Amino acid sequence: MSKDNLNLAIVGLGFGREFIPIYQQHPSTTLYAVCQRTRSHLDEVGAIYGVERRFASFDELIADPAIDAVHINSPIHLHSSQSVAALRAGKHVACTVPAATTIDECWSIVNAARESGKNYMMMETAIYTREFLFARELRDTGRLGRIQFMRGSHQQEMAGWPGYWEGLPPMHYATHAVSPCLAIVNGQAESVSCLGSGRIAQVLASKYGSPFAVETAHFKVREQDLAFEVTRSLFETSRQYIESFDLYGEKASFEWARIEGESPIVHVGEKPSRTAVPDYARLLPEPIRRFTQKGVYDAENAHLSFTQGGGHGGSHPHLVHEFVSSILEGRPSFPDVYQSLNWTCAGICAHESALRAGEVVTLPNFESKLAQK
Ligand SMILES: NC(=O)c1ccc[n+]([C@@H]2O[C@H](COP(=O)([O-])OP(=O)(O)OC[C@H]3O[C@@H](n4cnc5c(N)ncnc54)[C@H](O)[C@@H]3O)[C@@H](O)[C@H]2O)c1
Repeated sequence: MSKDNLNLAIVGLGFGREFIPIYQQHPSTTLYAVCQRTRSHLDEVGAIYGVERRFASFDELIADPAIDAVHINSPIHLHSSQSVAALRAGKHVACTVPAATTIDECWSIVNAARESGKNYMMMETAIYTREFLFARELRDTGRLGRIQFMRGSHQQEMAGWPGYWEGLPPMHYATHAVSPCLAIVNGQAESVSCLGSGRIAQVLASKYGSPFAVETAHFKVREQDLAFEVTRSLFETSRQYIESFDLYGEKASFEWARIEGESPIVHVGEKPSRTAVPDYARLLPEPIRRFTQKGVYDAENAHLSFTQGGGHGGSHPHLVHEFVSSILEGRPSFPDVYQSLNWTCAGICAHESALRAGEVVTLPNFESKLAQK
């Protein structure tokens, strides 16, 4: 039986809270339930947004047959196990980045999605920013010509974030820099060579056995004559926050602004010009258009990621709309499960390469049935 309205549940109410009013106002969803561990915070958030079904247990949430889809925003180490459990319980799954932390976890999500027939979408903010949508328009209107090269960069200082971030290998959180490079060519990474550079304090390095301040990688795109480059830093490297991609075409190129507040640059031939990027709210159903400009918190209580990430470029309602539309239209989402896991695995394999002094690491091909674990 086809449905025209989905019951959604949000898991994790830090960053996840940003999405509550978007699902509440999307014309095809009901924000049916929220879930997080601490009962007091769960009740506080539930009361603010008028969400009556509240679960302090993830297992109880996914046992509720009324829920069609879950959007997971728990800490990183829970993403894969919760995604697999929700898929196996017959729910469509949206999960924040990164999808997983090991290659085995990547496989477990791919296999659970295949076996359940449900949609899995990694909610990658970087490919629904207004900058990315602008670059996509440049591509689709032929203004770039042949795409020749891509570069992604994500530099951040994560001192003071929750403990599980401390010492995280930079490439284990690489999707914001990897994804736009691959999404613009609708591609997947085939192999990577990555070097670690610099050193962080031993107290941080010992947490995940990762000593590097910066990781810098070259990736080969599968079945395309293209390569791209990604740079990541998380601790003890001075720079304003940047989460960016550059895109080099035969006729025109797009370069992200170097510091916040500047406009990106479009080069046509050798001639550069600063270019204001439009908002793409018009692509969305009217009730959720305003969320491209505004988060759900007031300025004082804004989620740190939203402030540091410049509001994630207005991406949140686009992500919600893509996830919901893909389910209702019975098609894979963008990114689908294979792209999501490839884009996550790219960073996992990059870190493996860095630990082996830049040795080339070939990514598993999650779409190959023969290679299925
Ligand atoms: N731009 C982006 O895409 C972006 C930005 C910020 C955060 N994130 C991702 O969002 C995730 C959450 O980030 P955060 O800053 O809100 O983290 P956080 O640690 O502040 O909050 C985590 C939330 O998950 C809940 N939780 C923890 N264990 C749970 C369990 N077993 N069952 C149910 N709920 C559980 C907690 O109660 C809390 O509400 C991270 O994985 C991060 O990678 C993505």
